[in-house]
Amino acid sequence: MVTRRGFLAGASIFAGASAVTACSSPATPQGAASEGASTSLKGQVVAFDGRHQAGIDTPHQAHLNLVAFSLRAGVDRAGIRRLLRLWTEDARALCAGQTPLGSLEPELATAPANLSITCGFGSRLFDVAGLASQRPEWLHPIPAFYRDQLREEWGEADLVLQICCDDALTLSHATRHMIRAGVDYAATRWVQQGFVNANGVLAKDETPRNLFGQKDGTINPRSDQEFQDVAWIKEGPEWAIDGSCMVVRRIAMNLDTWEELDRGSREVSVGRTLDTGAPLTGTAEFDAADFTATDSVGLPVIDPASHMARSRASEDHPEQKILRRVFNYDLPPDPTSEQLSNAGLVFICFQKNPDLQFTPIQQRLDEQDRLNQWISHIGSAVFFIPPGTNPEDSSADEFWGARLLAD
Ligand code: HEM
Repeated sequence: MVTRRGFLAGASIFAGASAVTACSSPATPQGAASEGASTSLKGQVVAFDGRHQAGIDTPHQAHLNLVAFSLRAGVDRAGIRRLLRLWTEDARALCAGQTPLGSLEPELATAPANLSITCGFGSRLFDVAGLASQRPEWLHPIPAFYRDQLREEWGEADLVLQICCDDALTLSHATRHMIRAGVDYAATRWVQQGFVNANGVLAKDETPRNLFGQKDGTINPRSDQEFQDVAWIKEGPEWAIDGSCMVVRRIAMNLDTWEELDRGSREVSVGRTLDTGAPLTGTAEFDAADFTATDSVGLPVIDPASHMARSRASEDHPEQKILRRVFNYDLPPDPTSEQLSNAGLVFICFQKNPDLQFTPIQQRLDEQDRLNQWISHIGSAVFFIPPGTNPEDSSADEFWGARLLAD
């Protein structure tokens, strides 16, 4: 195996040689770019350091590579620290459009295009690091559900990197670089690729659609207060504060049988119209839904078994909310299958505690949800997302997980 730093001793000539020309402005929401979009998009930078890791409250980028890793045998807490220090340094450089130490292709780092790299730790990392007693009590596999069709190939992992970018080439280079940078410590376990609309296609703040044609992401935290309430960990040890929990579900969607439905039935299954995404009791996407409204024969306008009615938080459990940051996948169909597509969602959601948020919502959906006829959960993994880094602030993590992993 090639050891990166040794092999690349002479490569530092490239480091930092290719700083971004344009700007260091905060991420521009998808679609905000207007005239001259391609040139301004090239230089758009999402700030890497901060109270929280980027890639959670960051506006949705067009492309996703979600890469999960297994720690190699023999890697201990000191090894994990070395890995996370070098990964953080390299991710920080890549996200700023700079060439990380050891990059073999410096020209591929020059267009950050809103690149963000978010790191998470799986349950086993705490065991390997000798920190089992510190593991958050919610960091365990999501309980099994009746309808699950989980495949081991999309299962739990020791580490995850959520790499998102508005440019597919920059994303590919950043992904390859991060995998190679960590190769002595961690082996790739799975990669889930996803996409939404290209940057500039949607209007500012317009909700992207999934492959069922639905606007997906309407009800989501938007204000700082909502993010505090839903996504950021606010209690517990210092090293966890301002972190989060990422739940990943890989959900296959059967486009063939979905298309057999008439449009009205498709709308009933979610409780929203397909064109505007408005609740069936309203006219615009963000209108409040009226779950008590009935039609001329006395039936509820929004079916109580619809996805929206089943997934929403109730007054009794206002904490049952999540931040959904989902991407579509569309792979070549299996030639031995009758299906025309192999498509679905890389369903990524963030919260403080999945035992109180994701799991009770999914429990309700598993029991009853009109969408169940066309979807199946085929992968599941849970990660602790450490807080953001700040090398200038001694009370923050210098690199991902620094305070947790300190001796
Ligand atoms: C392929 C699977 C899924 C599809 C196609 C899907 C689609 C949708 C759509 C179209 C909406 C309405 C628009 C919106 O608010 O974004 C929605 C809402 C929602 N979904 Fe899903 N969803 C899926 C899986 C899930 C899962 C697994 C969960 C969590 C366990 C979930 C939780 C929610 C929540 C919390 C809302 C907002 C409910 C509200 O307060 O109105 N969804 N989903």
